[in-house]
Formats: sequence, C-alpha cells, structure tokens
Amino acid sequence: MSEKIARFKELLDKRKEEGTLRNLKHRTEGIDFYSNDYLGLAGNHEFRTIVLDKINANPQLLSGSTGSRLISGNSHIISETEEYIADKQQFPAALLFPSGYNANLALFSTLPDRHDTVIIDEQIHRSVHDACRMSHARKLKFRHNDPEDLERILKKQTGHCYVAIESLYSMEGDFAPIPEIAGMVKKYNADLIVDEAHAFGVFGYGLIDQYQLQNQVLAVVVTYGKALGAHGASILCCDLVKSYLVNFASSFIYTTSAQDFQWESIKTGYEFLEDHQELKKKLQANISFFRNQGLETPSDEGSPVQAIIIPDNRKLQIIQNQLAEEGFLTYAVYSPTVKEGTERLRICLHNFNTEEEIERLAELIRKLI
Ligand SMILES: Cc1ncc(COP(=O)(O)O)c(C=O)c1O
Repeated sequence: MSEKIARFKELLDKRKEEGTLRNLKHRTEGIDFYSNDYLGLAGNHEFRTIVLDKINANPQLLSGSTGSRLISGNSHIISETEEYIADKQQFPAALLFPSGYNANLALFSTLPDRHDTVIIDEQIHRSVHDACRMSHARKLKFRHNDPEDLERILKKQTGHCYVAIESLYSMEGDFAPIPEIAGMVKKYNADLIVDEAHAFGVFGYGLIDQYQLQNQVLAVVVTYGKALGAHGASILCCDLVKSYLVNFASSFIYTTSAQDFQWESIKTGYEFLEDHQELKKKLQANISFFRNQGLETPSDEGSPVQAIIIPDNRKLQIIQNQLAEEGFLTYAVYSPTVKEGTERLRICLHNFNTEEEIERLAELIRKLI
C-alpha cells in the first residue's frame, strides 16, 4: 500500500474513533423522522398505481435513453415535461436533470467564469461548493441569512457577482429572507440563484413562486427526490440561460439521459400534488403539533425540518442510537458537517407521522438531552 493510500486508512480510523464514520446502511424498519419524503409520495399507493398504469400503457417509458440528450437521448416526453414544468412554475424555460446535485453542478460550474465572484450563504449545499471549484470563480461566503453581511461583501466587488441561497435550509430548518436578499442583489446588479430543494412541494411550487419573485432571479433549482418522492431536478430560467447550459454545461452534455419513465413520474408528481392539496396541509398540522411539544429549536415555524441542538458528537450519537432502539429514526448531524458546538439531531416531519408518534418522540428527546 502506498503512503498516500495508507493515509486514507488513518483518516477513516480517526472518524471511527470520533464516532463519525459513515457507513452505507439499508433502510431500517422504524418510524420515519429522518427521510426527505415530506409528503409521503415515495410510498403512496395511489401515486404508484398511476405511474404503473402509465408504464403498462406505454412500456417504452422503461427503455434506456441510449445517449446524451444532445445525441440520441432526447425525447418528446422530456421536452413536453419541461414545457409543462416551465408553465406551472411561471418561468420561460425549464431544463431537466437526473438529480439536484447535477443541476447545481451545471449552474455553478458553467455560468460563473474565472473573472466572476460567487457569493454564497455559508450554509449552502455541498453541490454548489463543488461546482464553484470547477468554474474557477472566486467564492466568498456571507453570514447565514444575513442580508447586511451580503451587502458588506457586494459593496466591495468590482466584477460580476452571482449570489447563491437556498429558500429553506435543511441543516437549520430556517427560511431565507428572500425578498430582502433579492432586493440587495438587484441593488448591486448581481444575479440571484435559489435552490428550492426542501421547499418545493412542501410549499406548492416553492417559495419563489409564493413570493412571485420569478423575474428577480436568474435561476431556481427545484428537486424531485424529496417532497415529490421521485428523483431528478429542474433548472428554471429564461431561454437564454437554458440554451447556454445546453451548449456549455458539462454535467448536462457529457452524460446519458435518464429513461423517459423518470421524467413521466415527475410530471405525474406535479399533477398528483396539485390534486392532493390535503397532503401539505396535514404536514403543516404535524409541524405545528411538533413545535407545540416545547422542545427548543433554532428552526422556523412551518419548516418540515426541525433541529434540536445537542452540542457534542458523542452524546448526539448516543441519543440517536437510543431513539433508534425505541423505533424512532432520526438523523444526527455531526461537526464538521455543521460548526463545532452546533451538532444537532435533525427531525424531518411528514404528513404520515401520527400525533402519538410525535408526542412520544418529543417525550423521549426531552428525557435524553
Ligand atoms: C439544498 C439541496 N440542494 C441540492 C440537493 C441535491 O439534490 P438531489 O438529492 O436531487 O441530488 C440537495 C439534496 O441533498 C439539497 O439538500
């Protein structure tokens, strides 16, 4: 083993010692307070039956796409789905991707160049960091959800700036002050990009739609692996940005397109959510019920992610394990994923959690912390 590879072992051993070694586990039986399936669509029988019926009527949906969308992998179904999505989301165009990670990679590796600056909220998703590295743009961070700190940075810049935020942050479970940030971005002639991975579905078409700020953003990313219970993502933008991405985004060009089945399930998901508004109402009722249990949290009202700060990796791990033994599946977020001293138990609420489950979970957490 070379010295370099032996170093990998050292780093893994260090994680093991600290109790933060990641392992691939299969989904275990238990009460789900950890998945992103906020509206329960991933296991919804009615939704599954509709998708299955579509496949039975047109088994070609399961055929491999055979290539990049720029060669043999494009289809009428993808184009029609993109038109459908753009119309629903009130954007001129939508560009589909197999995942949100890929969509962010395309945006932030392609639009900014080495002369530009990308100013990110310090809690932005990892995919944006990875993409910025590929673009060679300068990357600066502003304090989480702090438009004044953003202004302090914007003021000093001479070149073009892109500003990247999420509408709902999944580590803190809090909302971005989108109108204030959009105003600031406009004042300094910068371009705003908003990731709506955790807001899409939970809040209809997302918070940009709720605020009707479509014309104040350069692009929005909505993802379909969370509240929509499927997989994939769209970049919502103008025709010019779409065409630029189709021409220059490596993560769009140099990859085989997914099967039509994936795109058809996304369209079916939109239709299903539109016809079942009660799903998000029940989710909001469960979020309120959880917040009435009296646990301290930095998370916002209405957020499906509620964090409980347990500032100690070891203690956090013990509590998560004890909850699991009682049948409650939660997610421990250790440092360095979050800042030391802000380690947390992440509770994801769903429309399908019962009040009894929520009450019992809160009771256990109160006892253990
Ligand atoms: C904010 C945010 N953006 C993007 C992604 C990536 O989306 P996907 O899981 O579809 O690749 C995630 C998922 O973890 C996310 O939380």
